[in-house]
Amino acid sequence: MSASFPPGAPRRAVVVEVGLRDGLQAEQLILPTATKLDLARRLIAAGVRHLELTSFVSPRAVPQLADAEELLARLGRPEGVEITALVPNAKGAERALRAGVDGMVVFLSASESHNRKNLNRPIARSLEDVAEVARLGAAAGVPVHAALSVAFGCPFEGEVPVAAVVAIAQRLAELGIRRLSLGDTTGMATPPLVRERVRALREALPELELALHFHNTRGIGLVNAWVGLELGIERFESSIGGLGGCPFAAGATGNVCTEDLVYLLHESGIDTGIDLEALISVARDVERLLGRPLPGQVMKAGPRLKLHPLDAVATARG
Ligand code: COA
Ligand code: ZN
Repeated sequence: MSASFPPGAPRRAVVVEVGLRDGLQAEQLILPTATKLDLARRLIAAGVRHLELTSFVSPRAVPQLADAEELLARLGRPEGVEITALVPNAKGAERALRAGVDGMVVFLSASESHNRKNLNRPIARSLEDVAEVARLGAAAGVPVHAALSVAFGCPFEGEVPVAAVVAIAQRLAELGIRRLSLGDTTGMATPPLVRERVRALREALPELELALHFHNTRGIGLVNAWVGLELGIERFESSIGGLGGCPFAAGATGNVCTEDLVYLLHESGIDTGIDLEALISVARDVERLLGRPLPGQVMKAGPRLKLHPLDAVATARG
């Protein structure tokens, strides 16, 4: 295909696979480290170059990711792959730096209620934690990025004012953050909200790189991503098979599904470097591992030009 679509979209997009983090934190079943390792390696073999691998959070809060150190140690630093992890505070940063990550992602929420639920402290205290993580990252020469949860609406408070999002982003930028991911934790984003927030942030902070992290809770995750593409956003976070959800947000469900996103991007002439068929095969294995159907759709139907033999179905005869 010669041109990418929609107008304004980049020719190449960065797909950040967050299934091993956002996905597995939401599962009852705790996968063995060896299984996570195998999934990470297969995702990399499929062409994924950006992995949010795990979180260095309290293992009591998120036991599913308590093996963060071991997972990183066993994976090593695969060539050409950016491995990041969520870090809530200085203790998390010390752990992540010792384990050897390419980037740390500090996180906080755009609403007080979700910040208290997710991090057990007010936003102002979390910003102090961000400052400490930023200092530790700078001293170690490791980039510190940020993720802002409930950036399009909060399950406890409802509407989140765009001014609140911009104010937190401004503070983060002052602390040295250069890349911010807008998290739609419980799928409350809509096309107008995406446009409003991206435009407001660009106007206030033109140097800040934006990423979009949607959940498909209300079925319009990819529509929101499409609005991001129209605005020229290049970085999208998604989960294999559509896994995902924050255990500390009421009504959270899966992320935008990586195969569905990659399918949409490729069919729109936007390159990702990822092999869709290989991704589908990983998604099907994740489904088997978890023993339940995943929400991803392309993993069920296959690519659009996957043809079926004529005798695959009966002929309708009157
Ligand atoms: N890694 C490991 N342990 C940690 C930690 C970290 N990053 N941060 C704190 N702890 C430990 C402390 O050492 C302390 O342990 P101790 O009781 O054995 O001494 C204990 O946790 C309590 O520390 P405190 O700072 O009081 O934490 P808290 O109870 O207020 O919880 C967080 C704060 C941030 C640690 C916790 O809310 C958390 O891990 N949240 C992450 C939630 C998440 O990942 N959500 C999904 C992502 S959207
Ligand atoms: Zn999420």
